[in-house]
Amino acid sequence: SKGAAMVTAVAQRLAAQRREINDTLALLSLSPENLQKVRENMRVELERGLRRDSHRTASVKMLPSFVYRTPDGTERGKYLALDLGGTNFRVLVVKIRSGIRKSVRMYNKIYAIPLEIMQGTGEELFDHIVQCISDFLDYMGMKNTRLPLGFTFSFPCRQTGIDKGSLVSWTKGFKATDCEGNDVVEMLREAIKRRNEFDLDIVAVVNDTVGTMMTCAYEDPKCEIGLIAGTGSNVCYMEEMRNIEMVEGDEGQMCVNTEWGGFGENDCIEDIRTRFDREVDEGSLNNGKQRFEKMTSGMYLGEIVRQILIDLTRRGLLFRGHITEPLKTRGIFETKFLSQIESDRLALLQVRSILQQLGLDSTCNDSIIVKEVCGTVSRRAAQLCGAGMAAIVDKIRENRGRNQMNITVGVDGTLYKLHPHFSRILKDTVKALAPQCDVEFVLSEDGSGKGAALITAVARGET
Ligand code: GLC
Repeated sequence: SKGAAMVTAVAQRLAAQRREINDTLALLSLSPENLQKVRENMRVELERGLRRDSHRTASVKMLPSFVYRTPDGTERGKYLALDLGGTNFRVLVVKIRSGIRKSVRMYNKIYAIPLEIMQGTGEELFDHIVQCISDFLDYMGMKNTRLPLGFTFSFPCRQTGIDKGSLVSWTKGFKATDCEGNDVVEMLREAIKRRNEFDLDIVAVVNDTVGTMMTCAYEDPKCEIGLIAGTGSNVCYMEEMRNIEMVEGDEGQMCVNTEWGGFGENDCIEDIRTRFDREVDEGSLNNGKQRFEKMTSGMYLGEIVRQILIDLTRRGLLFRGHITEPLKTRGIFETKFLSQIESDRLALLQVRSILQQLGLDSTCNDSIIVKEVCGTVSRRAAQLCGAGMAAIVDKIRENRGRNQMNITVGVDGTLYKLHPHFSRILKDTVKALAPQCDVEFVLSEDGSGKGAALITAVARGET
């Protein structure tokens, strides 16, 4: 009959749509072989970054941090800390006590960094930072105390000492002019001088991964790795001095900031990058750079999702084929929305209402598809981080000539903390790809603030 024919036609159309969607998402699914290859390539790049002859051109920069040891609980004192490069800019006072009253107390204030300052001139950026410090010191009634300061600056810095580091290149959403190649501590000192209102004693410049590792190590001496899975993606770990050819000396260890976000800049992951990744890259502030970060961190996952949704819509598979303004808007899918959409406790209707909030009119079927797209993108991100982490832990294990090893990773970042599945998939992947390591992941609450103070304490030898 005519009715039955129509039902069949609809069923066939749905099946065809399903096939097309599955084929598209299959582009982003990684086989065990893919993941092993990522682990192996990461290992090669880690080594290249450590070697003197390949360091300059390595996609994983392996930057020395001049942090020689993790804290041992004897650190104490009162410190000022700055945290620039995550979701917010913060100024903190951190009080560390040792002995039987061992504790860390913090007071902090969050300041917004307006987009025009993030992407204005370097002078404007550092003047703004000093303006915030001034406000904070007033607020705390501390204008006349000259505390030692630790500066968490979450960008690649080529350091020649604990208090010297020149910015290699901006990453994430920053693009202030006249900063790349300059010493960030100098730029901060200059801005303090320009303001001519108070004085600070800048002791350390610190990457957020290093702060995170130190904070976690303060509680757990097995913590020798720091991971950030947030706006950006990066790892640091304790490496043997004899392997760090860029720094004199063969004794002991030093923490290395890997800057693994740059992994793939030499095309070694092109076979797993998709047209969506290339689209996101081209629309970014640093085209061609930070390719691994653009597949694994909160700042870009939503953008990959958006590219896929645009593609599916163009092909008439979604949103009735209408590409609306919100869908064309960069950055609408923040980590917090992805996390909500993927939450298993959420009914489909709620997913629909989140999409509605974003201005995306969707049918129930659309909501199912959007959720699948989000799941595929975040799964791949977690697996890639896991494959990278497997390379790191196995390197540390081999450094120590061990067959089996227990180690702890201190972690921070919105993606790790907010996302309902990211952390589990990350752990499962590490387990599968580095079976000789028992890796524990510990949340490092406020690593950038606490960690900067701990490093400052360790650096001044206030023990
Ligand atoms: C970016 C930065 C890196 C930082 C990471 C996490 O990858 O280049 O220095 O650690 O983001 O914030």
